[in-house]
Amino acid sequence: YKFPLLQFFAGAMVPTSIPEETVPEVAFVGRSNVGKSSLINALAESSTVRTSDKPGLTQQLNFYSVGRLFNIVDMPGYGFAFVDEEKRLAWRELMETYMTKRSTLKMVYVTIDARHGLKVGDKDFLAMLDKNRVPFQVVLTKCDLIILPTLARRYMMVLDDVNNYRHARKEVALVSSRTQSGVNQLRKEILKTVGN
Ligand code: GTP
Ligand code: MG
Repeated sequence: YKFPLLQFFAGAMVPTSIPEETVPEVAFVGRSNVGKSSLINALAESSTVRTSDKPGLTQQLNFYSVGRLFNIVDMPGYGFAFVDEEKRLAWRELMETYMTKRSTLKMVYVTIDARHGLKVGDKDFLAMLDKNRVPFQVVLTKCDLIILPTLARRYMMVLDDVNNYRHARKEVALVSSRTQSGVNQLRKEILKTVGN
């Protein structure tokens, strides 16, 4: 499986700058530094999306067109320590407006560091998605950084948690952007999700 060319076309820091609805869309969200941007690059075999070892790099909704067939949206990480309350509220409004009102949004991929599993903040986020009937799937990232028995245990625990949400896909993807493991499988699922 292969994605057509990934191209940045819009960034939104406020709800009014979100581009109009056109093609189907999938979005990547999760804590700062879990590897969202790296995963998008791995999926698209690109280096278009900026990544960093410093948390909080992605500060706006970044819209990428994938060969004009569908869009991938890279979202700023949640759980990033905002300097002020005003910024935190603005972030929340942007994310919630986007995710709850976007009719072209087919799936939200919630990325979780495989070493950490689901934390309270992640569960709050999943609950928010579920309440708003947003379809989502959990993706465990950086799977290269833990040994297999631990990964297997983490996978079972997360799958168990995911079963509690009505709008969750009852599957958990395991990926590593570093080794590419699981990336092709996820690529296939995304193509299916956007109807290709
Ligand atoms: P924010 O934009 O700050 O929310 O971060 P992000 O979730 O987009 O993370 P990003 O892709 O920028 O990656 C953060 C760090 O994790 C970088 O140093 C990456 O090189 C590293 N990283 C990303 N994916 C993997 C992976 O699969 N394995 C390993 N070992 N490191 C990874
Ligand atoms: Mg990022």
